[in-house]
Amino acid sequence: MTQPVNVTVTGAAGQIGYALLFRIASGQLLGPDTPVKLRLLEIPQGVKAAEGTAMELDDCAFDLLAGIDIFDDPTAGFEGANVALLVGARPRGPGMERGDLLEANGGIFGPQGKALNAGAADDIRVLVVGNPANTNALIAQANAPDIPAERFTAMTRLDHNRALSQLAAKTGAAVSDIRNLTIWGNHSATQYPDIFHAQIGGRPATEVVDDQAWLEDTFIPTVAKRGAAIIEARGASSAASAANAAIDHVHDWVNGTPAGSWTSAAIPSDGSYGVPEGLISSFPVTSAGGAWEIVQGLDVNEFSRARIDASVAELTEERDAVKGLGLI
Ligand code: NAI
Repeated sequence: MTQPVNVTVTGAAGQIGYALLFRIASGQLLGPDTPVKLRLLEIPQGVKAAEGTAMELDDCAFDLLAGIDIFDDPTAGFEGANVALLVGARPRGPGMERGDLLEANGGIFGPQGKALNAGAADDIRVLVVGNPANTNALIAQANAPDIPAERFTAMTRLDHNRALSQLAAKTGAAVSDIRNLTIWGNHSATQYPDIFHAQIGGRPATEVVDDQAWLEDTFIPTVAKRGAAIIEARGASSAASAANAAIDHVHDWVNGTPAGSWTSAAIPSDGSYGVPEGLISSFPVTSAGGAWEIVQGLDVNEFSRARIDASVAELTEERDAVKGLGLI
């Protein structure tokens, strides 16, 4: 049997964890030929529920699941990790200011970055799902100086998938007919879902849609505020769709994106498209050989420029705030 891949999942006893772990164990994260060992990391209060989830994982008798271990200590939890899905985070509580939120999450993602630095495998790949995801990823990265910076990413794939689905519904196209949508910027309400380079059945998406008012007044806000709409309808935040997006992100990172198409992921900027170097911002990306690359050479029109700049300005403010707090 191939050597199992160690996958550490933080927040394993939470909603997303519950939707995610079974799919990882069934082979959907890394492919049908790759056995996995799950390492569940929780806070002490979450350990008992994680044990219950582990019992259920056992009861699925997954062929590819080579073991499950549960931890409440990040150093132990990330030991030997090849893939780390950082899902557990501190949610915004009543009356909590943004600075308090960033500081509380710095208390999670700083130590987790240090633990990854100390013990993760050489090929570690990190996806941050817990919000504020881009800046949490930046904090973890800053605390892991020995890990190549590009191994720290944050999830905008859920936004990407939401945009695909909205565009399919508007045009009557199948999701599989749509290519090259992009989410730019922060995983927040300022994100910019861009259809100007997208194609639907080989035709420019803007031509198929042919409705600028829909693009501005419906599409962009619907995608950006979809998380809130789910909470309103379901009485709980998106969990299965977030887990699905995490699976998509890591699957494509490891196995590559299909030829001729790109997806969206928040990865460290190399300065492309005027995004300050080092910010973990969402871009159009392809993956080959286990590394993300930013799609180059796209024309950015004025409409897109203003929206990308606004989201990047928010990321810059978040970075400056965590710098001011001594978290990076
Ligand atoms: P949840 O509250 O159901 O679960 C979070 C779990 O994390 C809890 O079991 C908690 O005990 C655990 N946890 C907290 N601090 C931890 C730490 N230091 N180490 C290990 N575990 C820790 O939340 P849910 O619904 O699973 O969401 C998790 C995060 O994902 C939230 O921050 C949410 O905002 C974010 N999210 C991100 C999305 C994205 O597109 N990037 C989409 C949806 C959610």
